[in-house]
Amino acid sequence: MPLIAIQGCQWGDEGKGKITDYFASKADIVVRSQGGNNAGHSIVHKGVRYALRSLPSGILNPRVTNVISEGCVVNPTSLIDEISSLNKTGINNFKLLISNRAQIIMPYHIMLDKAKEQALGNSKIGTTGKGIGPCYSDKASRLGIRFGDLLEPDYLHQRLSEVLIIKNMELKMFGLDAIDTEACYRDLLKAGEILKPFITDTSLFLNKAIDAKKKILFEGAQGGMLCLDHGTYPYVTSSSPLATAIPLNAGIPFNSLNDIVGLVKAYTSRVGEGPFPSELFGEEAHALREKGHEYGTVTKRPRRVGWLDVAELNYIKQITGVRHIALMLLDVLSFTDELKICVSYSINGKLIDYMPSTIAEYNKVTPNYITLPSWKEDISTITSFDKLPSNAKDYITTVEKLTGLEVVIVSVGPDKDQTITRKELF
Ligand code: GDP
Ligand code: IMO
Ligand code: MG
Repeated sequence: MPLIAIQGCQWGDEGKGKITDYFASKADIVVRSQGGNNAGHSIVHKGVRYALRSLPSGILNPRVTNVISEGCVVNPTSLIDEISSLNKTGINNFKLLISNRAQIIMPYHIMLDKAKEQALGNSKIGTTGKGIGPCYSDKASRLGIRFGDLLEPDYLHQRLSEVLIIKNMELKMFGLDAIDTEACYRDLLKAGEILKPFITDTSLFLNKAIDAKKKILFEGAQGGMLCLDHGTYPYVTSSSPLATAIPLNAGIPFNSLNDIVGLVKAYTSRVGEGPFPSELFGEEAHALREKGHEYGTVTKRPRRVGWLDVAELNYIKQITGVRHIALMLLDVLSFTDELKICVSYSINGKLIDYMPSTIAEYNKVTPNYITLPSWKEDISTITSFDKLPSNAKDYITTVEKLTGLEVVIVSVGPDKDQTITRKELF
């Protein structure tokens, strides 16, 4: 299947970086089609750990062309930093394209992101503070500045001057200093000079690649439950991590995707605020967090952790049509004797067959669990399904039965080699 999407099926950090890098050896092109440097994708490559933010996870493979498409928001300074840190580790030989229609994260987006969070106090979203929400808001308000604008200095100056009239009013409202047009313009030109060779019409490039039967991997960022429309609103990000949004976000035909590989952590984690019905607290949460090294790739915040939530997975299946999943971090589940899986939600003692649409309703949810035995063996060196302890196999088949999803990959460690493939999709 030449066009495959990697979709996070929970609240992010499911291991998308690892699996994208794993598939990248077979790909011609890897595409990031939404989000920005709020993402933190860890890859362990030849024993070295990389944390990628805006760059697609095919970047370590010199054969692969890496595309940042229209649906993304990109901070040019942070992208340049990301590229120079790769250069420092000896990775110089990579192919990168940035859409001329991708939105630029401006300094005022970061200032406003932080100021809004502060103003919200206890009701804050717990954003990554990278300016993602304000940048997407400006895109929708038609106040965005795009990468193509960097290639047209006179237009850029005019556009920036117009946009800053409004943005400076907003900054003032939050008691923040105004942005100086000329200084901001100079910074943009400087970044544009460095990034110019990468900026192009990526939709055209991808359409030609599809015609030429190239193998393309779409690397999702965030996870389905952080979707702006379908997630735990308002505790979501500002784009859609669902694979069904890819054709729009990359400018490719709606029917060109062949399949989705849903990424599912064998348990659940969440960073930031918002509903998390199967969340664990206290000693158990601590043990799981430590075993899974559950600390944010971007913000280093301790991640909230909990049991696998099948009610949530079935919802993601319903709204995206995902059929195949990679079950990630299975090795972490040996942290305890008994494992729970949340199989459904009840409200006021009654089972519900829908996902709550309001926080008020989420607050009334009681998760219903089944319990399964764990295993104590270290499974991180196992390379075939048959060799897994029987309790681990039972866990996998139980997930399949409860969801109707087929587990095509089982991941038992961060390294590419720590991957059990049950079915080749790509
Ligand atoms: P992403 O945002 O979806 O790419 O995920 P992150 O990279 O933010 O978080 C996943 C973490 O789990 C990273 O530290 C990975 O190196 C690590 N990881 C990925 N797969 C496995 C696995 O199967 N087992 C273990 N123990 N760690 C894994
Ligand atoms: P990857 O791609 C986990 C969360 C933030 C916050 C909410 C909104 O690594 O899985 P934002 O900065 O996007 O406005 O924050 O979304 N969030 C993520 N959580 N993994 C991510 O990306 C995330 N990107 C955003 O913690 O709760
Ligand atoms: Mg991450």
